[in-house]
Amino acid sequence: MDNADIDWKNLAFAYHRTHFNIRYTWRDGAWSEGILTNDETIPLHMAATCLHYGQECFEGLKVFSSQDGEALAFRMNENAHRLARSCKKILMEPPPPGLFKEAIFKVVRANADFLPPYGSGASLYVRPLVIGTGPRVGVKPAGEYLFLVFVTPVGPYFKTGFKPVPLVVEENMDRAAPLGVGDVKVGGNYAAGMKASMNARKGGYADVLFLDAKHKRYIDESGPANFFAIRDGQYITPESHSILPSITNKSLVTLASEFGLDAVRRQVEIEEIFTFQEAGCCGTAAVITPVSYIDWRDRRAIYCRGEQAGPVCTELYNRLLAIQTGDAPDTHGWVTRIPLD
Ligand code: PLP
Ligand code: COI
Repeated sequence: MDNADIDWKNLAFAYHRTHFNIRYTWRDGAWSEGILTNDETIPLHMAATCLHYGQECFEGLKVFSSQDGEALAFRMNENAHRLARSCKKILMEPPPPGLFKEAIFKVVRANADFLPPYGSGASLYVRPLVIGTGPRVGVKPAGEYLFLVFVTPVGPYFKTGFKPVPLVVEENMDRAAPLGVGDVKVGGNYAAGMKASMNARKGGYADVLFLDAKHKRYIDESGPANFFAIRDGQYITPESHSILPSITNKSLVTLASEFGLDAVRRQVEIEEIFTFQEAGCCGTAAVITPVSYIDWRDRRAIYCRGEQAGPVCTELYNRLLAIQTGDAPDTHGWVTRIPLD
């Protein structure tokens, strides 16, 4: 278990064993001290609510190496708050933001030699999760919870990296109901979307584009990422109660405005795909993944031919990466330096 075998420049988005994960237990009304362990498994009661009733949520954030070897976490406070929101929505005990920060700091420091080097294109992906561990047979919240954080060094989510990928519009399966849990990061949303995503991959697409479940008329998001498009100086991204509020997307809205685009959140009709000049998926794992074309029914909306992303996607990608790696000044207070010693 060391990092000697890692080819940093060709890392996939996959689990890689590291030294330690950190765990906290909520029991009798209080969170325990954090325990760093090298155990990759969890002892679990067979009637735990996470196994039966889906009491589970998670987060994803990235830590980057700066040119002078510092560990820079991107917008981790936003992840802390979203995790708490997810917990509350499915009646789990939310880890307080201070505990979240302590966990990230400790687990990153304990795995410092798995932080990919500056310039490798890779980063340390941090995966916090909360699960209901207390036993229940009736449908009600658990009395005990586990908050665990592990890390894994990763490359790009879509294996092409910053190269355009095709999407297909999914009309026969929904990811999330309008008043359901699509706006929080609970595991059930991914179970709901998995079949559609796998079908899309079998069909040669990188992923799907889900439509709103009620009208089947507006764009929601992709399987693991939000959607945005560029048209006539506008950055357009869907407004919907059933999509995850992406921290990357929120950052791109700010960056797009800064370089003169008009950033607009609104319902986006699926028919509009034929009017966009560029399109992209965005998220922690996906970063910005430009979209080459979108297939909808028997029609195709094409944004790029070949491997060249559009100019606005490229500019946004470069600006985002520069802030994340400390190459550009952090004027918004998005970056947290994690002490490694
Ligand atoms: N939408 C879904 C369904 C996701 O799983 C993710 C990934 O976290 C995103 C959007 C992007 O969110 P963020 O930019 O906060 O990572
Ligand atoms: C992320 O971008 O962090 C995600 O959680 C997306 C996916 C890997 C589920």
